[in-house]
Amino acid sequence: MFFERHEGGEKAVLVHSDCYHEKDKEDPSEFRELVRSSGVEEAAFLTVPGSSLNPRYFVGIGKLEEIRQHVDATGADVVLFNHSLRPSQERNLERELKCRVVDRTGLILDIFAQRARTHEGKLQVELAQLEHMSTRLVRGWTHLERQKGGVGLRGPGETQLETDRRLLRARIKSIHRRLDKVRRQRDQSRRSRKRAELPLVSLVGYTNVGKSTLFNTLVTAKVYTADQLFATLDPTLRKIQVADYGSVIFADTVGFIRHLPHKLVQAFQATLEESASADLLLHIIDGHDPERQGNIEQVVLVLEEIDAHKLPRLDVYNKIDLMPGVEPHIDRDEQGRPCKVWVSAANDQGLELVHQAIAELLAGDLIHEYLSLGINGGRLRSRLYAMRVVQSESFDDNGQPVLEVRLPRNELVRLLNQEGLDTSAYARAPE
Ligand code: GTP
Repeated sequence: MFFERHEGGEKAVLVHSDCYHEKDKEDPSEFRELVRSSGVEEAAFLTVPGSSLNPRYFVGIGKLEEIRQHVDATGADVVLFNHSLRPSQERNLERELKCRVVDRTGLILDIFAQRARTHEGKLQVELAQLEHMSTRLVRGWTHLERQKGGVGLRGPGETQLETDRRLLRARIKSIHRRLDKVRRQRDQSRRSRKRAELPLVSLVGYTNVGKSTLFNTLVTAKVYTADQLFATLDPTLRKIQVADYGSVIFADTVGFIRHLPHKLVQAFQATLEESASADLLLHIIDGHDPERQGNIEQVVLVLEEIDAHKLPRLDVYNKIDLMPGVEPHIDRDEQGRPCKVWVSAANDQGLELVHQAIAELLAGDLIHEYLSLGINGGRLRSRLYAMRVVQSESFDDNGQPVLEVRLPRNELVRLLNQEGLDTSAYARAPE
């Protein structure tokens, strides 16, 4: 990692502001969760009224004094803000408080840095960190001088800041290059999946709703789950058999969060792109969370941002074990299609209903066709019969068989592809 990250075991004073504007509001309990997930110990929690904000320090002078007292009393190493701070505000606060100040974006980046596991995930976090830090260069880069020793690296007449900027630009460029390469490889594997014509079901949802737990119960191979935010950072793909349907690829994705910094949304395109190209989105919702409605809206906003909001979606309400009186069940829309499934991933309740709803929705794109097989269609005919999708058989004027079939579109496309036949007539209708 290019930047030093603070070690675990740190103590922090948490500062949360009660903003007036609903759109800027952050949830204090989620903030505590974020801090816990980053491995930092909470030494004190302060709430700042929205009315007393000061552009220089973000908080008013009185509050600044109160924060200072808490820092001194608890021996805190860092002050964490549940808001985005301007670089100048961070600097002014650090000067006044004589300890490190990290804003919400910095905190989320830190958690991401700890969670990234794949090469690509690590590169993306580093890039987002570098970009976040570049606006804070004046303060953040003085330590670099010690790291590189200065000698031989500094061009004639260059100030330290210019050198730092040059190093930073070079580093960002090199990460972009490496990411491009990784992305090309990923596109390649996506294309081979498309060739196999397996539908992709992508799990999306607010952080900590139980996506990985559900993924693990649906898929046999284990994925890291933890009672921490953003346990899943890298896209994880697995092939599974959905009862009454067939093979499907499942993708687990990064948890969404309120006010996820825009750069991070870009940075995590890797996992989100999987969602954007899905045939079906499973939107996992913590049914027990009092904030669930707001969280649902946040997820929908991100889906709009990545152009995935028009995809077919199934809402999976998880954690019904914590909701007295709620049994596993499927809710349907006016057309009778499944729209909500109520389950408990941790207690293995209602998972067969998830299978059932997925199978119904994927097969919802059914094709009812009369296929003229032609003289070379013997093998296709027997395969269609073997799949039990033939409803009737007749003959055309040339005496060739015509089969009335009913089957999911993607199954038909796969079959025709395997037989080397033209599939263009069955391409998916645009959304
Ligand atoms: P991110 O990686 O942050 O996006 O989280 P996630 O949505 O993948 O959540 P994860 O599966 O890591 O689960 C979060 C917490 O919720 C863990 O402590 C799980 O044990 C718990 N959990 C998951 N499903 C259930 C459930 O059905 N009931 C209850 N009570 N807890 C659950």
